[in-house]
Amino acid sequence: MSLLFEPLALRGVTARNRTMVSPMCMYSAQDGVANDYHLVHLGRFALGGAGVVMVEATGVAPEGRISHADLGLWNDEQGAALAQVAAFLTAYGAVPGIQLAHAGRKASCQAAWQGGSPLTADDAATGEEPWQVVGPSAVAAGPGWPEPRELSTDEVAASVQSWADAARRAVQAGFRVIDLHGGHGYLLHSFQSPISNQRTDRYGGSVENRQRYPLEVVRAVRAAIGDDVALFYRVSATDGIEGGLTVEDSVAFAKELAVAGVDLIDVSSGGVSQDRSIDTRVRRGFAFHADLSRAIRDGSGLPVATVGLIVDPHQAEALLVDGDADLIALGREMLENSQWPHHARRALAGDHEGWHQQVGWALDLRAKGMARLAEQGETPMSRFASPSR
Ligand SMILES: Cc1cc2nc3c(=O)[nH]c(=O)nc-3n(C[C@H](O)[C@H](O)[C@H](O)COP(=O)(O)O)c2cc1C
Repeated sequence: MSLLFEPLALRGVTARNRTMVSPMCMYSAQDGVANDYHLVHLGRFALGGAGVVMVEATGVAPEGRISHADLGLWNDEQGAALAQVAAFLTAYGAVPGIQLAHAGRKASCQAAWQGGSPLTADDAATGEEPWQVVGPSAVAAGPGWPEPRELSTDEVAASVQSWADAARRAVQAGFRVIDLHGGHGYLLHSFQSPISNQRTDRYGGSVENRQRYPLEVVRAVRAAIGDDVALFYRVSATDGIEGGLTVEDSVAFAKELAVAGVDLIDVSSGGVSQDRSIDTRVRRGFAFHADLSRAIRDGSGLPVATVGLIVDPHQAEALLVDGDADLIALGREMLENSQWPHHARRALAGDHEGWHQQVGWALDLRAKGMARLAEQGETPMSRFASPSR
């Protein structure tokens, strides 16, 4: 049997298989509130057989959104809209997860398809007002990026509560996995990385001080969600830049995250610098984070998810069998084919188990019929090869 289709149990949560839809911003919300688009877009992944469906980066505070059109979870109206998404995902067998995020100094941007650049006065003219971004230090993410306002020590400590409040709303809405966005140069990562954190108070300087804010957030979120809900943490396992975080730092950090209540490390990379003259990116080969996820898994003992150009069922299976990861996260491949887990099931186990009952029976019958045709040597093109035409 295939490992990809073995359930994964973490705390009180069991995913039906080891596929996860990676969080992906769709820039389609208004005032942070989910709508029919989010329900249908995310719902199709549950129908497609995913084990965990992770809702996109969802702002814990208005100023923590990447764009005006991000989802948010700082009020109850937003919670109620997301509850419909969680209910649908649950009804069709997926574990509903949500990524909580604060974009920090990389907030106040255009939607990705508009370029993803920081908002300017030109955008304000079309109704997309820029806003003041915040961060650990007054260090811009790169040339052309806004200088963040440095948060005071008291503001940093006080902001922990917004993560706990959003996490509590998420659980009330029915989510069973919370993924804290600790990567890609956003607020938590920007505190952790010496590239963006040049503070001299208790939230900056030593490794312990730079980890303080992320770990305070993790502990507060764990206390808010109780023992039953699974807590993931997305790391940028390496900054890819001289003087930045390395995979060794990430292994050590993962051990601290485990003590603070994290159940799984969701391994990504990069994002701390937007300076295009420096090449910080991990090479985008197939399964491009597998070496990093394996290092964190081996070094910390925690389960990990790996993500990055995973496109083939046999590739996904081999990553699990080889010990590179415990969970396979797919982003763009799921956008390409939201039924990927079902197709993977057919490729690895040769059946339609897990397809929802409205369609599984029909596909089973059709597969048997097509197998008979194949035995008789008939292909979809036979008709056109017939000499009688
Ligand atoms: C449209 C789009 C939106 C994304 N939004 C997020 C996000 O909200 N949070 C996050 O952690 N990563 C985000 N990512 C990164 C993906 O989760 C994933 O890590 C990346 O696309 C690599 O995986 P893939 O090759 O399977 O797509 C986004 C990627 C895409 C393509």
